[in-house]
Formats: sequence, C-alpha cells, structure tokens
Amino acid sequence: MMASITTGRARSGYGAMAPSADRLAWYFLRLSGGLLVILALAHMFITHYLNVPSETTFDFVANRWANPLWRTFDWVLLMAALWHGLIGLRYSVTDYIRRAGWRVFALSLVWITGLVFTGMGSITIFTFDEAAARDNLGPLAGQIWIAQAIGGSLFVFAIGTYLGALALVLWVARSFRAGGPPIYSGDPGQYAWVMHRATGIGIVFFLLVHIIDIMLIGLGQHIYDESVEFYGNVFLIPMEIALVGAVIYHTLNGLRIMVIDFWEMGTRRQRQLFWAALIGSVVLTLPSAIIIFLAEL
Ligand code: HEM
Repeated sequence: MMASITTGRARSGYGAMAPSADRLAWYFLRLSGGLLVILALAHMFITHYLNVPSETTFDFVANRWANPLWRTFDWVLLMAALWHGLIGLRYSVTDYIRRAGWRVFALSLVWITGLVFTGMGSITIFTFDEAAARDNLGPLAGQIWIAQAIGGSLFVFAIGTYLGALALVLWVARSFRAGGPPIYSGDPGQYAWVMHRATGIGIVFFLLVHIIDIMLIGLGQHIYDESVEFYGNVFLIPMEIALVGAVIYHTLNGLRIMVIDFWEMGTRRQRQLFWAALIGSVVLTLPSAIIIFLAEL
C-alpha cells in the first residue's frame, strides 16, 4: 500500500484547525522531493559522471568551497536530502513498530539523528578553512585510524547491500521453483512501492556515513584523502553503482508518485509509468557504471 495523505486535522489549543503532522510530512516529502530532483541529480552528475567518487579529493572539495555559492548549494542539498530521508523514515517506523513506547523511542531517535547531523554537516560546510586544513595542523590531524574507521563502515554498508541482493535472488529463485510469483502476488504498483521504500532507506543510511566522511575534511587534507581513496576499492565499486541506480530509481519513481497524486492520468497509467521508471533507471545508471569501471579498474 502506498503511504497516502490523511484527511484528519489536529486542533490547536485555540480551537483553530491546524494541519496534522502526517499531512505536513506528506507535503514536505513532495516539496523536498521536487527540490532534490534538481539538487541531488546535479550533485550525482558531477561526482559520478563528470568525475568518479575517488577523484573527489581534498583539492576537489576545497576548490569548490572557495566559492560561497557552492557551499550554499551543498548545504541546501544536505538539508533537503537529510530531512526528506528522515521524515520518510517515519513511514517505516509507524508501519513496523506497533508498540507506543518503542514508536516514541524510534521517532525520537529519528529527530535526534536529524538534529545532530544537521549540526555536523552545517559546521563542516560553513567553518571549513582551507589553509588550516591543508597544513594538517589540527589536534586530530595525524589520526589516520579515523579515515580507516570510515572506510570500514563503507565495507559494512557494501556487505549489507550484497547480502540483501543475494537474499533477494535466492528468494526469487525459490518462488519460481515453487511456481509462484517472483516475490509476492501483487500489482507492479506494489513492487514500485517496495523498491521506493528500500531505495529511500538505503540512501538515508549511506547519507549518514557520507556526512561523517565529509566531516573529515575539517581534520586535515591527509585524513580526508585517505578516506576518499576507499571509494576506488574494487569491492566497494558495485555498491557505489547500486547507489547511483537507487538514487535514480527513487527519483523517477518519486516523480511517478507525484504524477499519480496530482493528475488523474497518473493513476490510469501507473503501471506504464513504473516500467518507464525501471527502464529509465537502468539506462541512466549504465553510463555511470561504465565511467566508474573505466576509471577505477
Ligand atoms: C532525488 C529526488 C527524490 C524524489 C523525487 C523523492 C520523492 C519521494 C516521494 C514523493 C516520497 C513519498 C512517498 C509516499 O508518500 O509514499 C518519498 C519518500 C521517501 N524518500 Fe524520497 N525522493 C527523493 C530523494 C530522496 C533521498 C535523497 C532520500 C534519502 C536521503 C530519500 C528517502 C526517502 C524515504 C526514506 C522515503 C519514505 C519511503 C516509504 O517508506 O514509503 N528520498 N520520496
């Protein structure tokens, strides 16, 4: 079932009608999603098509951040992606966590994560001092283990991605052998929804690791470049390409959801739109896969 807008409105203390949190979240996901189509795709085009992730070194970032407009662009992108992703996680929390106490705990965790990562990301972007970082003079500048710990978390993320993919293939093979549908008997729209959720959650968790690895730039050129080198590791490359595919699918299907929400034609054509999103994702991911493989192997 696709998460849908709730019609209920909460009463404010003054008796006026205020929109419910669910309704606000619903609109926020659409507004921020629309903004992300431009910002996230532009960012990914620069880092995964014009360059490859392992080339986004200290010099690359320092060069961009010399221009305050790029700092502003990166900050707006970060805020839109972080809060869109975390508000999106609300759907999973309310769908899967039934006990009131655990739900409050999980939602609180989502908010605390949002506030902490907003602070970390904003400080990194706006306090970056190129000369000081280039000289590697800070108290933690020599602590290369920090870069290696971030690299390690990328490996954990990649292993999770590959195990998830393997489990999916085994599940589909088992279903075919049993003569059933590949995953469950449902309309393509349900597959679209499951993939939208899975890609959304995957991107949020990668974003949190990515905010931490960008933070290392403030600790010095040495640590930062050491962490960026991990992106050239052969084991991590399939995960990086899967991530590009996930962002593209989520973007195209997000646009499909908005067409369904706001135009009657969208509901009639939702199946064709799903196939278009799926084929579009494969076609648009392929050039990045080729560019990354050619650069790294
Ligand atoms: C790039 C353009 C993007 C567009 C157009 C987009 C669009 C959308 C839309 C329309 C929804 C609401 C789905 C619904 O109401 O059922 C949504 C949900 C969601 N989005 Fe995005 N999104 C984008 C990027 C991102 C990014 C960068 C992240 C992660 C940081 C993300 C994570 C999520 C999550 C976790 C959900 C909740 C999915 C669910 O549980 O149903 N999205 N997105």
